[in-house]
Amino acid sequence: MVLFNVSRVETTPFHGQKPGTSGLRKKVKVFVQPHYLHNFVQATFNALPAENVKGATLVVSGDGRYFSKEAIQTITKMSAANGVRRVWIGQNGLLSTPAVSAVIRKRIGLDGAKATGAFILTASHNPGGPHEDFGIKYNMGNGGPAPEGITDQIFRHTTIIKEYLIAEDLPDVDITVAGVTNFTGPEGPFDVEVFDSASDYIELMMSIFDFGSIKRLLSSPNFTFCFDALHGVAGAYAKRIFVDELGAQESSLLNCTPKEDFGGGHPDPNLTYAKELVARMGLGNSETQGEPPEFGAAADGDADRNMILGKRFFVTPSDSVAIIAANAVEAIPYFFVSGLKGVARSMPTSAALDVVAKHLNLKFFEVPTGWKFFGNLMDAGLCSICGEESFGTGSDHIREKDGIWAVLAWLSILAYKNKDNLQDKLVTVEDIVRQHWATYGRHYYTRYDYENVDAGAAKELMAYLVKLQSSLSEVNEIIKGVQSDVSNVVHADEFEYKDPVDGSISSHQGIRYMFEDGSRLIFRLSGTGSEGATIRLYIEQYEKDPSKIGRLSQEALAPLVEVALKLSKMEEFTGRSAPTVIT
Ligand code: G6P
Ligand code: ZN
Repeated sequence: MVLFNVSRVETTPFHGQKPGTSGLRKKVKVFVQPHYLHNFVQATFNALPAENVKGATLVVSGDGRYFSKEAIQTITKMSAANGVRRVWIGQNGLLSTPAVSAVIRKRIGLDGAKATGAFILTASHNPGGPHEDFGIKYNMGNGGPAPEGITDQIFRHTTIIKEYLIAEDLPDVDITVAGVTNFTGPEGPFDVEVFDSASDYIELMMSIFDFGSIKRLLSSPNFTFCFDALHGVAGAYAKRIFVDELGAQESSLLNCTPKEDFGGGHPDPNLTYAKELVARMGLGNSETQGEPPEFGAAADGDADRNMILGKRFFVTPSDSVAIIAANAVEAIPYFFVSGLKGVARSMPTSAALDVVAKHLNLKFFEVPTGWKFFGNLMDAGLCSICGEESFGTGSDHIREKDGIWAVLAWLSILAYKNKDNLQDKLVTVEDIVRQHWATYGRHYYTRYDYENVDAGAAKELMAYLVKLQSSLSEVNEIIKGVQSDVSNVVHADEFEYKDPVDGSISSHQGIRYMFEDGSRLIFRLSGTGSEGATIRLYIEQYEKDPSKIGRLSQEALAPLVEVALKLSKMEEFTGRSAPTVIT
């Protein structure tokens, strides 16, 4: 038994330790400043109810990005000094964000211990490495991100902090080997348990999906599969699930070795950043070698986001959640017995899910951007499946979005649709999507991102758009001057949400222009960047007429795009003639 002492270290506040949509994200060079991480961790301990610290069990792990290993040792030493009873660490410090949520909710440790919370070390889809981003966020006992009430308290404590507690003499724990190490401090025993990163999560997935039917699909000579982890933490799960459990070929895995800098790439699963997968699937401008696989998918750095592709075919995230919801009760055993309690989407996500909810007579919710809003609905038993345009899809099996869950959901739907004819020509991803459009209508959809715009200019643009809303006749006049065949704006506002569970109100959640024909233009500032401002422009148009659902999205949306750019004076305010990324 190793003894340790507790040191009180004097410190002063750092400016700007305000957790954003998903925790505190900054450049690594900010995080490595002496006391910087320590202050934030201590502020979190100070903000939490005492019983979530003293004697508690905490999970500490993340997507393995640069600086994670040092951060894990620091947080462990600070946990020991603050009276935490035990710390759980995924082997090599790796746990995907959904796996952390699963571990908090499901894992039972030695002596029947259950986790009360977690420090997740990730900046999600932002690049990693010494010159890139690091991040830390706190999740609660329900497995979901800390609510605003707590993050506001954390922030308040970062502004008044005077000292932090740390067990400086606690030896570094070897996180490469599974096992328990016992220590004793002034307040009694303290244990660190390093455990297999994947097994709790795999067990959960096997209880949700019919692995037998997915295995039969993957073994069909007509079905080919490809998964790209973009060198993120999904790689720690992909081989175990897709190859070992489901029998996929090892060659179907791309970039599945987790790397501290994500191989120098941008670990965001979209058509711009998942280049290798996009090429392999026969999309984009690149030359494809050989016949593309029938199904392709990617996840982001911490494996909560996903992108679903068919052969030469992109499934928009907004369509993906609608299609999963429409098929869940038939294709996914988790939903067989009690069906769907309700469905939800974030405000800028297209209304494809709304149409499914109406058809199936399901409870439906529209929430602001950010997964935490779904968590409240799920805890109250109001929502089973939800999704966001930002490549997040998930269900109430945990309280985070879940990239691998989404892939397994799609494989389940494919397996279900093909259950009787695995030897013949298969029903493809594209067939499923086109059939969905034929039944429910199609929501043409695109998003333009203007990254790293001057923060002042971005604010001015938003203020201008809010002001413009007071006169719809002026708005419609501008529109008619740009595109005479675009319909009229009939309503415009700033989205505000009243949480039906706790009654809390979130205002200024994005500017909406809604058109007579159901089209929408939405403008929002990103809450996840680490420098400057990112303006997001969301463009959506609904088409019910079956003869018009087969157009190229870009062509169908061109008039609305032009209207959006002119209406917002995008180039005038930002100096940008084109977006950084189009998804
Ligand atoms: C994170 C959250 C998502 C949210 C997204 C929005 O990924 O987990 O729930 O949709 O950020 O990011 P943005 O940059 O648009 O604020
Ligand atoms: Zn993520």
